[in-house]
Amino acid sequence: MASIHPPRIDPGFGVYVHWPFCLSKCPYCDFNSHVRRNPIDEARYVEAFGVEIAHRAKLTPGRKAASVFFGGGTPSLMKPATVEAILEAIDKAWGIEKGAEITLEANPSSVEADRFRGYRAAGVNRVSLGVQALNDADLRALGRLHNRAEALAALKVATSTFERASFDLIYARPGQTVDQWRAELNEALSIAPEHLSLYQLTIEPDTMFERLEAAGKLKMPNADLQRDLWEATQDTMGKAGMPAYEISNHARPGAESRHNLIYWRYGEYVGVGPGAHGRVAGKSGRRAHATEKHPEMWLTCVETEGHGLVEDEALSIEEQGDEFLLMGLRLTEGIDPGRFQALTGKPLAASRVAELIADGLVEYTREGRLRVSAEGFPVLDAVVADLAA
Ligand SMILES: C[S@@+](CC[C@H](N)C(=O)[O-])C[C@H]1O[C@@H](n2cnc3c(N)ncnc32)[C@H](O)[C@@H]1O
Ligand code: SF4
Repeated sequence: MASIHPPRIDPGFGVYVHWPFCLSKCPYCDFNSHVRRNPIDEARYVEAFGVEIAHRAKLTPGRKAASVFFGGGTPSLMKPATVEAILEAIDKAWGIEKGAEITLEANPSSVEADRFRGYRAAGVNRVSLGVQALNDADLRALGRLHNRAEALAALKVATSTFERASFDLIYARPGQTVDQWRAELNEALSIAPEHLSLYQLTIEPDTMFERLEAAGKLKMPNADLQRDLWEATQDTMGKAGMPAYEISNHARPGAESRHNLIYWRYGEYVGVGPGAHGRVAGKSGRRAHATEKHPEMWLTCVETEGHGLVEDEALSIEEQGDEFLLMGLRLTEGIDPGRFQALTGKPLAASRVAELIADGLVEYTREGRLRVSAEGFPVLDAVVADLAA
């Protein structure tokens, strides 16, 4: 297997592929994911992905993909032949770089060794597994279809099949204590992946968890406990040599997700499939792309109009500056103030930066980058809002 090249500071170009189906809807999730009773006609989707990819390549000529990311939904419900056909279409349209990172998100309830070998043969070299918790009671409370034993078995298959494996855990769950979380994190570290995504549970609008919380049936940890859990996370991961490189993502140096770095370093990416977003450079600046969200409507759009795009807008200079800050300040490496000026035509507001520095929320690195401090990360949204236009 060709090895994945480590990330470069130039973020490059990536392709995101959205597979919008899941076996059931998790009660906390507001991703564009749908449950279908009847089997999915994958051949029809393959055809539509091919059409959309070819259309998008015409809008973005001359690029080569440094990464491809199959996200969802649950992409591990796709047949390996579907993944292979989509990768072939991407390669034909733009070309895929040698050493490109090709990630597939997988759900432990749909991990089978044979299928994983099929993904690997198709070109996938990195898997990101949605484990969420390592104990059965919390997995049940999160509405997951898998248990601890299945998660551990899936991790074994993932780490033995792919060059790189990462997994997701959700913390700040109802009833979780700092000691329990530290123990769980240490167990996660003993499984020794190079990359872990650790998300604080968020109550999203229009989810089952939002309704349960409003009805008093779900009690989230209070702000102090959330802060303690955050600090325990940074402390445990830092000591283990896997500090955060992004607010929720931890990696051994060199094992960061190349694809996600494209988003955070404000690079160029195309999104194909239902409800996928993209940001590409056009003749008159950066453009925002989005596709039809509903899977069957997306299919009809592509089949009748030759593409699923429902949004293709030029971003104003202010919007580009805000997006650049919103994405880049999530990273521990921070942002290059010169790039902000190149994008927007003006420097960062010096007085606001000075105030944030005085409050200990941001700092300049020796190389002149501006980054959020350890004290600033728990209030990242407020810091970004302060600096944005
Ligand atoms: C699209 S899902 C990943 C893959 C797959 N669908 C799964 O759930 O196993 C991306 C990740 O976002 C995280 N996530 C989703 N909703 C969340 C929420 N409300 N709060 C915190 N993390 C969330 C979960 O860790 C999940 O694995
Ligand atoms: S399996 Fe993943 S994408 Fe699907 S509903 Fe659950 S968290 Fe959302």
